[in-house]
Amino acid sequence: MPALLFVPADSPRKIAKALGCGAATVILDLEDSVAPGAKERAREGAAEALRGRAPGGPRLVARVNGLDTGLIDADLDALVALAPDAIMLPKCEGGDDAQHLSVKLAVREAQCGAPDGAIGLLPIVTETAAAMFRLGSYRGATRRLRGLAWGAEDLAAAIGAQTNRSPDGAYTPPFALARNLTLFAASSAGVEAIDTVYADFRDPEGLRRECLAARRDGFCGKMAIHPDQVAIINEAFAPAPGEIARAQAIVAAFAQAPDSGALSLDGAMIDRPHLLWAQRVLARAKS
Ligand code: COA
Ligand code: MG
Repeated sequence: MPALLFVPADSPRKIAKALGCGAATVILDLEDSVAPGAKERAREGAAEALRGRAPGGPRLVARVNGLDTGLIDADLDALVALAPDAIMLPKCEGGDDAQHLSVKLAVREAQCGAPDGAIGLLPIVTETAAAMFRLGSYRGATRRLRGLAWGAEDLAAAIGAQTNRSPDGAYTPPFALARNLTLFAASSAGVEAIDTVYADFRDPEGLRRECLAARRDGFCGKMAIHPDQVAIINEAFAPAPGEIARAQAIVAAFAQAPDSGALSLDGAMIDRPHLLWAQRVLARAKS
């Protein structure tokens, strides 16, 4: 699911646009892109989108308000019966918070007769200082977990950083740490790592560079804030033809020598990690 497009759920016009722009996943936002006075309108907008979903349309995720906002129960009451594919939990501070949300979902699933565990969970796991110390706690926390996403804007506000990027556009060390630990946290929990948004939606080259670096390092997708970003993300995360050919060659080499642990291919050594990489590339190309 390379591109996950955010859309403020209080804007029916933007929701209509988001559903038709090629994003495999649309995140209906009830949190930070919605003003405090518009939360009820956002619940209605998200509910409307879920009710009107067409077969073959994008997956619909709802980003609810955080656990300590006093808003999340009304958010879930408005949406769970309409079966969003997943709930995105902002400011998530560890596996305990993921479990807490999972229980809230289970109660509502039972109330509306939906199968237990049908709704997935996509937490944003680096938005507070405390969250940074709990990144190892997602493994085994809940079987609803579909992926881990990271965020840099709220974290900057939390620690009082003047900025999270240096003049050349690279993340400064505290934010690079959050990004990198998210990769390890997701891998250790056995779910996909999702890269954070690129806010400068008029800079396609900068976005493309950041996507390629994310894919290089193991992220499976990236969140978007503008429809123009979707095609760039989808293209950057698709395996390149050369990569697929190399993966096929590696799989073929091991298939021909099932008793060998290490082989030579094009003058270089390949062993089990290379085979795992190749299998992952081919699985991604197929999906
Ligand atoms: N989803 C769907 N449609 C969107 C969109 C989005 N995320 N962002 C912009 N559009 C639409 C606009 O409504 C506009 O459509 P229109 O011509 O029919 O009115 C068109 O795309 C072009 O938009 P543009 O003029 O380039 O941008 P803008 O100034 O209208 O909007 C933002 C800029 C940042 C406010 C807008 O992109 C946005 O709301 N992004 C999502 C914010 C969000 O959800 N943040 C939370 C996660 S960090
Ligand atoms: Mg935020």
